[in-house]
Formats: sequence, structure tokens, C-alpha cells
Amino acid sequence: MPPRSPFERLGRLVDNFSPGFSAQVEELRRQMRAGLDQAGSGQADPQADPATDPATALAQLRNETIGDCRRCQLAPTRTQVVFGVGNPRAALVFVGEAPGADEDAQGIPFVGRAGQLLTKIIEAMGLRRDDIYIANIIKCRPPGNRNPQPDEIASCEPFLIAQLDIIRPKVICALGTFAAQTLLKTKEPISRLRGRWQAYQGIPLMPTYHPAYLLRNPNEKETVWKDVQLILTQLGLPVPPRAKTKKV
Ligand code: URA
Repeated sequence: MPPRSPFERLGRLVDNFSPGFSAQVEELRRQMRAGLDQAGSGQADPQADPATDPATALAQLRNETIGDCRRCQLAPTRTQVVFGVGNPRAALVFVGEAPGADEDAQGIPFVGRAGQLLTKIIEAMGLRRDDIYIANIIKCRPPGNRNPQPDEIASCEPFLIAQLDIIRPKVICALGTFAAQTLLKTKEPISRLRGRWQAYQGIPLMPTYHPAYLLRNPNEKETVWKDVQLILTQLGLPVPPRAKTKKV
């Protein structure tokens, strides 16, 4: 049976390693990057049908549904809503907790120190930030980076559910306790959840440690690298040879 997607073709290439491997892998990655984020810019294509065009559906969700959200008590202290960024057709979505000060200032998730480490992890996977999609459970910065409160989660979670429903990724990676426990509706600690496949609405979900935790506990980078290798394998993507033993 012919491969149905670039990911499947990539998986087969790995199985049938050939001298043209690198060029073919690069071409498949290029195909996966096609249709990059128009939603991140907030520009909906007025000609496109949101039912079939995820960039337009995400832009509608951002601009029309969420808009200048005042649904919870975070609105008065935030600078802006931090919606999400990346490829609207991403096969992999990372979900974090909530924006911090840098994200609140720039309107983009994971751009501070923890975000820079996440970018390194993504690049060590052989991917780029615009291949994948990044979002948070909470779209507005809690003051002083305190933990989000249950009523804030209740107000905001429907938007993440809608994002995931539009993107329909093949894999979700939940970063840290808060994202994993919220998505999986569990109280199990991340140390027990991580490294084991779970499911969110039928989508394979891999919990792993949050990059902010890795900044405080660099020895756990090796653990996260094990988890992201499982994700690459699930996606039918090769584990980049140089990074196999490398710490991110
Ligand atoms: N931590 C998160 O969980 N999300 C961000 O966007 C930044 C830091």
C-alpha cells in the first residue's frame, strides 16, 4: 500500500535507508512545512473555508471567538492574549502551562528562557518551531507567574480544546505537571506520567517535564530526550543521529 502521508513516507525511508536519504528527508520535511502559520499573524483568509482550512479556523477562533477576552480575572493584568503559534497542520502540538512575562510582552508562547530551551529540544528532534504548534492551557499571564486557578482554567480550556480540534495533531506533548494533569484530568505526578503514552480525545499524548523544570534540574534533560525520541518514533520520524546521545 502506498504511504498516505509525508510522515509515513519518512518512516519508510528510514526503513529502507539509501544514499539519497538526507535529500529525501529534507524534501519530506519541506512538504510537512507547507502551509505555514497564517493564524499566528491573526490573518484569516476571507476566501478560505474554516471547515477545511485550519489556518482560517484558528484565525477565526483567535480574532472572533476569543477577541479581547474578558472572561476571567486575568484580563485586567495581562498585556495581551497569548493564543498559540506554529503550523496549523502540525502533526505535533506542545502544550505548556501559561504565558510568563516574556510571552505576555511578545504575544508568543515559549519565548523566554524556558521557551529557548524548548526551541533547542525541537531543533534536536530535527524539527523547527514552524513545523509544529505550541499553545498553553491558559492564554493570559497569571500575575507574578502564580499557578492558574480552577475558574481560570474552566474559562480558558475550551479554547485549547478548539485549537486541538482544528489542528488534529497526530501527537500531543504535554509539558509539565499542569498541562499533563489538566489534559488528562488526573492528579498523578508528572514523574509517574512522563515517558508513558496516554490519550487525549483519542490522540496519543506524551507527558514530559516542563523546560522550566529542566532549567532547574539539568540532569533531567536526558529523561526528556528519551520521551521526545518516543514521540519521533510515533510520528514515523527518524531520531537525528547526532542527537542520539547528545544532551539538549
Ligand atoms: N511556560 C509555559 O508553560 N508557557 C509559556 O508560554 C512560557 C513558559
